[in-house]
Amino acid sequence: MGKYNFDEIVDRHNTSSLKYDFGIERKGRDDLLPLWVADMDFALPKEILDDIKKRVDHGIFGYTDPKDDYKKALKSWYSRRHGFEIEDEWNTVTPGIVYSIALAIKAYTREGDGVIIQQPVYYPFTETIKLNNRKVVNNQLLYKDGHYEIDFDDFEEKIKKENVKLFLLCSPHNPVGRVWKKEELTRLADICLENDVYIFADEIHSDFVYKGYQHISFMTLDEKYRDKLILGTAPTKTFNIAGLQVANVIIPNEATRQLFRHENDAAGYSQGSVLGMVATASAYNKGEEWLEELKEYLAGNLDYIRNYLKRNHPEIRLIEPEGTYLIWLDFSGFTTDRRELAHLILDEAKLWLDAGIIFGEETALFERINIASPRKIIEQAMEQLSFAIKNHDRQR
Ligand SMILES: Cc1ncc(COP(=O)(O)O)c(C=O)c1O
Repeated sequence: MGKYNFDEIVDRHNTSSLKYDFGIERKGRDDLLPLWVADMDFALPKEILDDIKKRVDHGIFGYTDPKDDYKKALKSWYSRRHGFEIEDEWNTVTPGIVYSIALAIKAYTREGDGVIIQQPVYYPFTETIKLNNRKVVNNQLLYKDGHYEIDFDDFEEKIKKENVKLFLLCSPHNPVGRVWKKEELTRLADICLENDVYIFADEIHSDFVYKGYQHISFMTLDEKYRDKLILGTAPTKTFNIAGLQVANVIIPNEATRQLFRHENDAAGYSQGSVLGMVATASAYNKGEEWLEELKEYLAGNLDYIRNYLKRNHPEIRLIEPEGTYLIWLDFSGFTTDRRELAHLILDEAKLWLDAGIIFGEETALFERINIASPRKIIEQAMEQLSFAIKNHDRQR
């Protein structure tokens, strides 16, 4: 037993939780076990909660900007854990990564320009490009033998042909779980450098990699790639504080940073969330031990699912994740009809997952499952899925 108890089930109902309290609004039913949106069912450890409570007890929550304690905590985390140094002026605190991606799209591209992504990928990438009237250019990841690889030739060709000005990199990759190798990142970086393409590296999942893998931050690659680099980092996945709305966007090059900040100003955003900043500084200073234990626990959840499926449902293929707490399952061995799959998951298994179709056209027979929950919930989910498969009504 470690210091922290991740088996504890905290009832999240009636907290306006997007995951637990919006079944009726979003799915038309309230009997679903939710393992969809990427937050966790684990409470913060006491040492961080105490810092937040202390600030709450002060009672005044006026405008707040990051001071030295915040900057020090952020810098120390990335220096200790990811091997690069952040200079104070490089960082812009924003309310989120998706918001920051939207700013980057406005800052570095014009209407009609191409923005390249690698589907299947976190769906707000696609939506944000479209909603800003830019062109989605897809460099589809290659799926072979249950593993995903980058198609570099296609990446280069599309950048040249489709007037691409910005690349949205997801590293580690949601939902396929790849932790990109240095050689892969360098090849992408070279192509972008040659073609004058900005890179927004969304590294929000960087603190979650499984044993045997190492997250390589884009910031640790050769400095020649930094001029057009926007590094999206956040404590929100790592410490389960998405509702506190903090992201740290690190931009070393001054001109690139000014373009980003101009869009931030134009959007009317200035001071950030006071509790978000308190939680962030505290988590980066005191949360390391909790995170290490949590990662062990998540690896246990992954083992459980892997073994369960192998034993009971070999027709479902688990794409072995190298990072993230999001598991990507291939159901093409179960059905070739995506409506049948949706019926199985929602109506029969009563699970609320993220359907593969929202990550891209080619993955309609996949489901993404969030494993950041106490083991009992994961066991329950597997049992519901198994029961539904065994009793599946193909006729509907
Ligand atoms: C790759 C990726 N980027 C960004 C986000 C969301 O970040 P934010 O809440 O800061 O917009 C998520 C959440 O799941 C994600 O998976």
